[in-house]
Amino acid sequence: MLRIGMIGCGGIANHHAKRLKDIEDARIVHCSDVSGDAAAQMAKEYGADKHDADYRVLLDDKAVDAVFVCLPTFLHRDAVVASAEAGKHIFCEKPIAMTSRHAQEMIDACARADVMFTIGFVRRFDSHWGKVGELVKAGRIGRPAVWRHCSAGGGPTRPWFLDREQGGGPLIDGAVHDYDFLRSMFGDAKRVFGSMKTFKSDSTALDTGTGVIQFQSGDEAMLCWSWGLPTGARGESLIDVLGPDGAISFTAMADQFPKGADPKTHGGITIVGKDNARTVEVYEKKDMFLEQDRHFVDCALNGKPPIPTGEDGKRALEIGLGILQSSDTGEPVALA
Ligand SMILES: NC(=O)c1ccc[n+]([C@@H]2O[C@H](COP(=O)([O-])OP(=O)(O)OC[C@H]3O[C@@H](n4cnc5c(N)ncnc54)[C@H](O)[C@@H]3O)[C@@H](O)[C@H]2O)c1
Repeated sequence: MLRIGMIGCGGIANHHAKRLKDIEDARIVHCSDVSGDAAAQMAKEYGADKHDADYRVLLDDKAVDAVFVCLPTFLHRDAVVASAEAGKHIFCEKPIAMTSRHAQEMIDACARADVMFTIGFVRRFDSHWGKVGELVKAGRIGRPAVWRHCSAGGGPTRPWFLDREQGGGPLIDGAVHDYDFLRSMFGDAKRVFGSMKTFKSDSTALDTGTGVIQFQSGDEAMLCWSWGLPTGARGESLIDVLGPDGAISFTAMADQFPKGADPKTHGGITIVGKDNARTVEVYEKKDMFLEQDRHFVDCALNGKPPIPTGEDGKRALEIGLGILQSSDTGEPVALA
C-alpha cells in the first residue's frame, strides 16, 4: 500500500484524489493546504486520517510514503526539495518550476535523497495523443513533420496563472504539455522563437502569441495560444500534424470508423494523403489521469524508473522559457 500525502488541495489535486480512490494499492492518508478548509474537505471526502494548513507537518508524518505536489508552480521548488529531504517519493505537477535553476535544484535534491521524482505530464498517458505520436513515428505522413496547436480563451481564473513570476501564462503553463509530448516524439529541441504580447490589463504574463520550436530531428512545432480574451470569449481551436505525405487530423467521424470499433470505447484519427485519400485509425479511450496515477503508484511501490523524469520536466520548461526570452529580445534562442 502506498500512503500518499496531498500538498495543495485545489483544482488538479482533486482530479488526482478521484483517481487515487480507484487504485487499490494507494490511499490518501494526509492532506495539506494553506487553506485549512480545502485540506479538511479533501480529507473528509477521501477518508484521509489527517489534515493541516502547513505541509511541513505532513512531511514530518511517518505514515506518508509519497507526496503529490499540487501547488501553484512558483511554490513547487521549495515543496519538492523539502519532500525529498523528508524521504518521500514525489509526483510534482507540471511545469516543474519557474526557472531552470530551481528545476535543477529539485532534480539534485531527489537524487541526493534517492527518492523517486516525476512530473505530471499527463499527455504521456493519453491514448489519443499517444496514437498520433505512434502514427507520426511510423512515418505515416513522412518527415520532417510540423505540429500545429492553436487555442484561445480567457485562461484559468486564479490570478497566479497569469503572473509572469508565479505561473508564466499559456506558453509556460499550458503549452508545456506539448513541449514534453513533442520531445517524446521528436527528441530534443534545437532552437525556439517567440512573439508574444499581453492583452489583459491585470496580467503580468505574456498572455497571447506564438512560439515556434525547431527540433534537432528537423521536425517543427507552432503553438499559437491566448489566455488573454475577455471572459467567455473563445477563438478557434486547431491541433494537427503535417508532413510531406499528408496530414493527421485528431478527429474522425464515427461512421468512418473501421468495422467493429465501437465509438463509445474508441476514438478516431484521420490521415489525409494524396488525392484526399483518407484512412481512419482508432484508439481505445482511456482515463489518462488514472493511467498516470497508476504508473506513479507502481513505480513508487516497485522501485521502477518513472516516465517522465525530472530532467524531462526541466527540458520542457526550458523550451517555454526560451520562447518568452525570444519574445523579449526579438531573437531566436538556441537550446543546449
Ligand atoms: N496536469 C494538468 O493537466 C494540470 C491541470 C491544472 C493545473 N496543473 C498544475 O497543477 C498545479 C496546481 O494547479 P491548480 O489548478 O490545482 O491550482 P489551484 O490554485 O486550484 O490550487 C492550488 C492549491 O494550493 C494551495 N496553496 C497555495 N499556497 C500554498 C502553500 N504555501 N501551502 C499549501 N497549499 C498552498 C491553494 O490554497 C490551492 O488550494 C500548477 O502547477 C498547475 O500548472 C496541471
